[in-house]
Amino acid sequence: MKALVLSGGSGTRLRPLSHTMPKQLVPIANKPVLAYGLEAIRDAGITEVGIVVGDRMEDIREIVGDGERYGIKVTYIPQAAPLGLAHAVVIAREFLGGDDFLMYLGDNVVLEGIDELVGRFRAAPCDAQITVHPADPREGGLAVLDAGGRVVAVEEKPKNPTSNLALMGIYVFTPVIHEAVRSIPPSARGELEITDAIGWLIEKGYDVRGHHYQGFWRDAGMIDSLLECNQAVLDHAGPRILGKVDEDTEVIGRVVVEEGATVTRSRLVGPLVVGAEAIVDGSYLGPYTSVGEQCVIEDAAVEYSIVMDRAVIRDVRGIHGSLIGRATTVRTATSVRAGHRLVLGEHSQIVLS
Ligand code: G1P
Repeated sequence: MKALVLSGGSGTRLRPLSHTMPKQLVPIANKPVLAYGLEAIRDAGITEVGIVVGDRMEDIREIVGDGERYGIKVTYIPQAAPLGLAHAVVIAREFLGGDDFLMYLGDNVVLEGIDELVGRFRAAPCDAQITVHPADPREGGLAVLDAGGRVVAVEEKPKNPTSNLALMGIYVFTPVIHEAVRSIPPSARGELEITDAIGWLIEKGYDVRGHHYQGFWRDAGMIDSLLECNQAVLDHAGPRILGKVDEDTEVIGRVVVEEGATVTRSRLVGPLVVGAEAIVDGSYLGPYTSVGEQCVIEDAAVEYSIVMDRAVIRDVRGIHGSLIGRATTVRTATSVRAGHRLVLGEHSQIVLS
């Protein structure tokens, strides 16, 4: 079995971050979203992976390379425009050949692996297998299953959902999907929808099965879900102190301080991670905060937030539920203590007063 990972898309729900960084590379506990998927694929024993990429191909290639660091072999498949998930299958035809494949949307994060769903398909082969999870299906796709686990209907972005089963972005397909993706027309938003291709299979009487995923799942293409992923991962991280923490710093709970980081005169209340070579001084870092590499946090207070590499926060307290892009500076002339929710792209300069 091969894997096809979709890493194109424009990430409209993550602007302004996605203007300068593909949404699949936003860090969760200091590791890119996409890495979670690639590791899950490797752990399920799949090593031949095609990654469909759009105009952010070079950013993705810089992190993933040939896949060796994740224990997989990567082939890049460029998609000229984001024309839909089923279109990605069309252009991956040559890579996929006549094999069964796992299709994985690169912004989906699952924390309990995918071995079970791959194992289920191998034990009980069918024409296509989708993965479902109880959640509000209006943001994505919806599935209706019969008592025997057979999928009887699917619908994309339903306005009036007829089930509470959301379609996760993890599918197993056999080669019949190639006929389906070539047979469907573009949707109202001008894309070839994978949901329509699955609907076509159902209509033609193919055996489409639903697998209930039991663990943690989020589509990390949205700000709140990214923060929830960060929370869930940090709950199981560390504790591990590799950097320097001085005697005037109080450390409570699961705290990770990476190699080369320096923390002085501060209060760290985990779960949290301070990235390599970061500097934290006179600050409070609260639960569910990820501070990236080489960040500088001085006289600040941050909790439940993702602060990306090389960001600088000076003299600002009360930062909560925020996403702060790489190399962004947030500071104030006078100390500001009210709560702030910030979503800042790369290289922003924010002065609060
Ligand atoms: C896509 C699929 C949708 C699925 C979702 C899961 O939606 O079209 O069926 O539920 O991924 O992440 P998108 O996130 O592209 O809107």
